[in-house]
Amino acid sequence: MSLKIETKCVQGGYTPGNGEPRQVPIIQSTTFKYSTSEEMGKLFDLEASGYFYSRLQNPTCDTVAAKICELEGGTAAMLTSSGQAASFFAVFNIASAGDHIISSSSIYGGTYNLFAVTMKRMGIEFTFLSPDCTDEDLQAAFRPNTKAVFGETIANPALTVFDIERWANMAHKNGVPLIIDNTFATPVGCRPFEWGADIITHSTTKYMDGHGSAVGGCIVDSGKFDWMKYADKFPGLCTPDESYHGVNYVERFGLEGAFITKATAQLMRDLGSIQSPQDAYYLNLGLESLHVRMQRHCENGMAVAEFLESCEAISWVNYPSLPSSPYYALAQKYLPHGSCGVVSFGVKGGRKAAEEFMKKLKIIAIETHVADARSCCLHPANATHRQMNDEELVAAGVSADLIRLSCGLESSDDLIADIKQALGL
Ligand SMILES: Cc1ncc(COP(=O)(O)O)c(C=O)c1O
Repeated sequence: MSLKIETKCVQGGYTPGNGEPRQVPIIQSTTFKYSTSEEMGKLFDLEASGYFYSRLQNPTCDTVAAKICELEGGTAAMLTSSGQAASFFAVFNIASAGDHIISSSSIYGGTYNLFAVTMKRMGIEFTFLSPDCTDEDLQAAFRPNTKAVFGETIANPALTVFDIERWANMAHKNGVPLIIDNTFATPVGCRPFEWGADIITHSTTKYMDGHGSAVGGCIVDSGKFDWMKYADKFPGLCTPDESYHGVNYVERFGLEGAFITKATAQLMRDLGSIQSPQDAYYLNLGLESLHVRMQRHCENGMAVAEFLESCEAISWVNYPSLPSSPYYALAQKYLPHGSCGVVSFGVKGGRKAAEEFMKKLKIIAIETHVADARSCCLHPANATHRQMNDEELVAAGVSADLIRLSCGLESSDDLIADIKQALGL
């Protein structure tokens, strides 16, 4: 039976049998018992499926990953300890020293730093391009050693909307997958696989958890990218893995399972960035109401954006669902039911006025966070994007006066009243 996204949010991933717990059980165990070494050996050889150590896999995490997999319409998924770990694993699973990745320049500051600094130190080179670059510019960036293309559906904090279909076509023309960070849109707002993306990452810390209670991440595979067709480019998936008893991931697990099995068996084994079962449980509670909350976040985002646009004291407003946004057409295509609760804007008077305004807010708190039930705001040039120079800030779409406001689930009347009093209106 094909279910609607709302039903998948509530019931996906877990169907208890007779007399079993109605709520997803928290399997708070590092290890699992077997009767014979032969049985254990089969698990190590990936010949049988089962749990043996929670650094690699845990049943609670897998149940919640299965729900996110259903929401995105993928074939396999895994939870990670953070969104950063998800972005790192998704890229590092198919790229190593000497390889090259093309990324949108309009991405989360932490991801930019991971790519441009840390992964560069590991020998992987990144080319950053504006999400609005021409097809010619994008084509010119591909090299024989390019292994993937990366972008964010709605970029944090620039709020650019990524043209997934266009970039997916270009990636596929060049024989590489498109990886999409779908954190801000969530699968309730946009399902990138339906537009040609191959791998999806999430910071589940944001709307999916939605209550500021658990840091986490997720990777989902569409199962559609034909690794074997480009076997020379992806030897890690298409030739025997000597570190795992010579397993060939694509031959053994098919296109639908190879990517996530390799990331679990190899990266999770060696780097151990799994989510805790307790946090996966909190994440599942958040997912159960994701569809209801996203609707309200979007309504509040729109109401606040419309107010800011009409306000004399505000110099500019950026919200993709506003008709005045340069991303309005893309938002209508990819996010027809609303974009998200995050709005960015500048207060007249620049950096200083922005700091004064933020100090006076009463309901909206200053936090390094977004996508939470409680409204919060941040000055990225002073926080998440602090490591960038002015030129890099401009490339990431973040001006020095930008305030990022994440509209929570409160009454939009109260949020607007708080903004008004902080502006002295
Ligand atoms: C779009 C996006 N991707 C990834 C991340 C990193 O996620 P985490 O903080 O869970 O590591 C964030 C964090 O804000 C984000 O906004």
